[in-house]
Amino acid sequence: MDMESQNLKNKTTIVTGGANGLGEAYVRALVAAGALVVIADLDVLKGRKLEEELTGAKFIECDTTNWDDQVRLFEAAASFSPNGKISFVVANAGIHRKDEVFAYAGDGKAPEKPDLATIDVNLIGTLYTSKLASHYFIKQNGQHSSESQEDTCLILIGSGAAFLDCPRAPQYCATKWAMRGMMHSLRRTAYFYGSRVNVISPWYVKTNILSDEDFAHITSVGVQFAETSDASQCLLHILNDNTINGRSYFISGKKWSSKGYMDLDLEDYQGNSLVESIQEDQVKSAPVEMGLFV
Ligand SMILES: NC(=O)c1ccc[n+]([C@@H]2O[C@H](COP(=O)([O-])OP(=O)(O)OC[C@H]3O[C@@H](n4cnc5c(N)ncnc54)[C@H](O)[C@@H]3O)[C@@H](O)[C@H]2O)c1
Repeated sequence: MDMESQNLKNKTTIVTGGANGLGEAYVRALVAAGALVVIADLDVLKGRKLEEELTGAKFIECDTTNWDDQVRLFEAAASFSPNGKISFVVANAGIHRKDEVFAYAGDGKAPEKPDLATIDVNLIGTLYTSKLASHYFIKQNGQHSSESQEDTCLILIGSGAAFLDCPRAPQYCATKWAMRGMMHSLRRTAYFYGSRVNVISPWYVKTNILSDEDFAHITSVGVQFAETSDASQCLLHILNDNTINGRSYFISGKKWSSKGYMDLDLEDYQGNSLVESIQEDQVKSAPVEMGLFV
């Protein structure tokens, strides 16, 4: 743990969806590494229990789909922080539902308007978190590159569904590919504010996100799970190394990597001179009304 914690001591970190599952693992690892952690979750019972158990953790009730809740969350985190600064934000809150966009109504039945709650939580909620994270990071670090900028980092949570074909889940896949899209956009400018943005994409991990039946099916077809500890070690690794920006890490479990996580190098097109040339023109031509950074 020590190897991965130098950059984390006393740094204030927000973890959304931090009361259970992978979020809880991130919270526990961060606290063990000496960070001060603000847990934002709908689950009040579990959140309060964690706050009582962990010195250095504070729970804030928050529905990430609600903008005002998130504004209050960031205000509370800044007040909780000894120096008023928020260093790291892990936009982890996410859900997986039976996908009504995919579901067929049945012969002779009219299609019904699909429930898009997955978009609300996984995408809209994360956009709110990202907006507030970059607001605080820029406010703290200033708008111009300087030696005095302190490391800040936004972590977006993808999934295997952020780069693999996952049948029957167009909504979930859309939200998880979107995390990479957001990262690709933000990584170009965040660095000018002394900030970083990275994606963590977990393989299957046994949490509450799927039903017991779903997890039994995964087990029955012989698929190996990743562990929450693989994900939390990956988080500490990224936060501790301030040279990591604009990368996607896959929480592979031990089947594909002895560490349990790896950079699959999916996000760049090194050696592909055609895409590199198109990318160069894209960066040059992107609208600049939000400000020029170079
Ligand atoms: N477990 C996996 O296999 C797996 C795989 C890939 C990606 N992920 C991603 O990891 C993240 C965490 O998933 P998990 O497996 O720990 O799930 P989980 O269901 O065990 O925990 C999710 C937590 O988020 C909270 N939450 C849900 N909606 C919220 C909202 N609107 N506002 C605030 N909190 C909310 C829940 O109360 C819960 O505490 C999600 O983004 C998920 O998509 C999980």
